[in-house]
Amino acid sequence: MKTLVVGGAGYIGSVVTRLLIQDGHEVVVLDNCSTGHADSIPAGVRFVQADISAVGEVLAGADFDAVLHFAAKSLVGESVAHPSLYWHTNVIGSRALLDAITEHGVPRLVFSSTAAVYGEPDTFPITEDSPTKPTSTYGATKLAVDMMITNECAATELAAVSLRYFNVAGAAWGAGERHTTETHLIPIALDAVAGRRDKLNIYGDDWPTPDGTPIRDYVHVADLARAHVLALTAAHPGEHLICNLGNGNGFSVKQVIAEVERVTGLEMPVVSGPRRAGDPTRLVASADRARERLGWEPQHDLRQMVADAWEFSNSVAAQEPR
Ligand code: UFG
Repeated sequence: MKTLVVGGAGYIGSVVTRLLIQDGHEVVVLDNCSTGHADSIPAGVRFVQADISAVGEVLAGADFDAVLHFAAKSLVGESVAHPSLYWHTNVIGSRALLDAITEHGVPRLVFSSTAAVYGEPDTFPITEDSPTKPTSTYGATKLAVDMMITNECAATELAAVSLRYFNVAGAAWGAGERHTTETHLIPIALDAVAGRRDKLNIYGDDWPTPDGTPIRDYVHVADLARAHVLALTAAHPGEHLICNLGNGNGFSVKQVIAEVERVTGLEMPVVSGPRRAGDPTRLVASADRARERLGWEPQHDLRQMVADAWEFSNSVAAQEPR
């Protein structure tokens, strides 16, 4: 297929770009590099460095088969502090993208949605039919875009798939997490064991969980990328298919720290501080629908995610000493 990857210079977009190429798809990347890195895009891929508002110019007359939309602000804590930034970037940006897709007749869309749309669920595991009551601005903006896509599919022949990621980790095909300001648990823990950061701060150890720290469902970025390729052909015209992507296992912050210490053979200094705004207690997925509709089966466990992220973070540190 001829695909446009919007946000293809970011962590997940660049991994998906690599898999699309490996599978023989044609890829064009659109990214403004506000958080992504141009050098994450593999050689030979056409790269348009521009805002999402330029998507119509890229699509015009080019006969794309699909758009994969990764371009968004995606930090829970930041979104609570800066709601306007999130509503403008995520919702208004996506509206422009949807209008361009409709105008230029692109038949397929794969959208990066998130577990953050569910907020603080009462029952586990979380299915796509669980109530959506986001606790952060980030989750609210992604839910708004999911709703826009549902409306668009109902009114047109667009075949769309929203993939609701749980906690993505690991590295694949030479690409991984390289956030300028890192907020995610696993890369921070790896920096702490490596001495690239002085300590890891646990955001609250008084949560209503067995060890007092929040529980998340971690999914390997290579498994996530495979789901995107499968999603390209999963929906029928006029359908908006929504699928959770997670491994179905919950790990607490303290369990992740222990796994990082096991995999690396190193210890890190840890302190406990206040809770972070917008964080839910527990997020664990049911990915049954992804299994049924996409034929998706995650292959990697937490240990592999940590090991691959460790190897990647060391290779980045070797190239760009902090
Ligand atoms: N945490 C710490 N200390 C840190 C960093 C994180 O204690 O230095 C904790 C957080 O409080 C949270 C857990 O580790 O309980 C995981 O935090 P991350 O920042 O790694 O990930 P989030 O769960 O906040 O969010 C991620 C993505 C979101 C997505 C969500 C869905 O960033 O885009 O997973 O589960 F919506």
